[in-house]
Amino acid sequence: MKISEVSFTADVLTVTWQDGSASRFHGMWLRDNAQGSDYRHPDNDQRLFDLTEVPADSHIADAALRDGQVQVHFQPEKIAVGYPASYLHQYAYDRPDGSDQQVWGAALSDSLTRHSYEQVLADPAARLHWLEDAVDKGIALLTGVPCEPGQVMKTAEIFGFVRETNYGRLFEVRSEPNPVNLAFTPVGLNVHTDNPYRDPVPGLQLLHCLVNDAEGGQSVFVDGFRTATLLRQEDPEAFRLLSTYSLPFRYREPGTDLQSRKRLIEVDDRGRITAVRYNNRSAAPMDLPFDVAGDFYRAYRKFADLLHQEDGELRLKLMPGELVLFDNERALHGRTGFSGGARHLQGCYADKDALRSMRCVLTNEMREAAE
Ligand SMILES: [Fe+2]
Repeated sequence: MKISEVSFTADVLTVTWQDGSASRFHGMWLRDNAQGSDYRHPDNDQRLFDLTEVPADSHIADAALRDGQVQVHFQPEKIAVGYPASYLHQYAYDRPDGSDQQVWGAALSDSLTRHSYEQVLADPAARLHWLEDAVDKGIALLTGVPCEPGQVMKTAEIFGFVRETNYGRLFEVRSEPNPVNLAFTPVGLNVHTDNPYRDPVPGLQLLHCLVNDAEGGQSVFVDGFRTATLLRQEDPEAFRLLSTYSLPFRYREPGTDLQSRKRLIEVDDRGRITAVRYNNRSAAPMDLPFDVAGDFYRAYRKFADLLHQEDGELRLKLMPGELVLFDNERALHGRTGFSGGARHLQGCYADKDALRSMRCVLTNEMREAAE
C-alpha cells in the first residue's frame, strides 16, 4: 500500500495510506526499528544495538515522504533513517484488537481439504497450502502417504523434527494385550489433547493410518478454540476461571512420573486464545483454593459439555495412507470404539515453531517469485 502523506509530532509519526486509513508510530518504536546496515545485520537482519544505547530523549525532529519511503530525522542523535512503505504497512501496530482466527465445527467433515503427499513433496505451493491448513485451522489431512512403518516420522521431517518422549520417537496406536494406555485398547476415547503432564506440552501430533479394517474406529476432532470462544460468549466467568487457574496433570508408569500444571484455556495479553488443553484421564487431584474450587468445577463441567457437543465434531474414518497433522494444544482428538478387524495407526509428536517457520519461508519465496 502506498503512502499519501505523513505528519509528525516529537513523539508520534502519522502515516496516511492511499485508501485514507492512517497508522500512528511512536518515535521510540521507529528509532528501535531503524532500518539499514548501521542498525541491522545485512545477512540475518538482527538488531545491532541495544535500546539502552538510544538516548532516552530521542525524538522525531522531522519526517517527510521521499520516493515512497518515509525519511525520519531523530534528535539529539542527528541521524536520518528511511522506512519503506511496505515495512510500515506490514508492522503497523495501530489497529484495533480483533480475532482473525478461523474456527471450525462439524461442517468441516465434508469440506476438509485432502492434500496429496506426492504433491506436498514435489511442489512448494502444495506444501505451503498443507502447512497453512495446519497453522490456520490447527488440522491438515494428507492422503497417499506410503503405508510403511515409520513414515509418520518422515512426514514430520518435511517441516521440522520429531519430538521424542518416553513413548519413543514413534508410538503405535492399536489393540495391545497389556496396554499401558487406554489408547492401545479398542474402546472409544473421549476427545482430549495429549500429554498436558509434559513441560513443554508437545505442540503437534501426527497420526498415520496403516490399517483400518475395523467396524467403527472413526477419528473425532474438536476445535478447542471454537469451544473456548463459545464459552467466553456464553459464560464469561467460567472462561475467566479456566484461563486463570492451572490444574495439575500427572502420568505414571514404571520408570516415569511426569507432572505439570497447565491452564485449560490459555490467552495472550490481548485476550486471544492461544492454547486449549483437556485430558480427563491424566488430570491429577485438583488443588485449587477452597473458595475457588466449587466455581471452578462448574466452569470445568460447562467447558467439558461444550467440548462434547456433536455440532463441534469433525468425524473422519482414517483410511490406510491418510495422515492427520494437528495442533495438540487446539484440536482435541478422540475416536469411536472399534471391533471386528484390525486398526493400526502410528503417531509422533513435533513442535510448532518449525512448522510456522517453514510456512513463513515458503510464503516469502512464493511472494518473491511472483514479483
Ligand atoms: Fe491421544
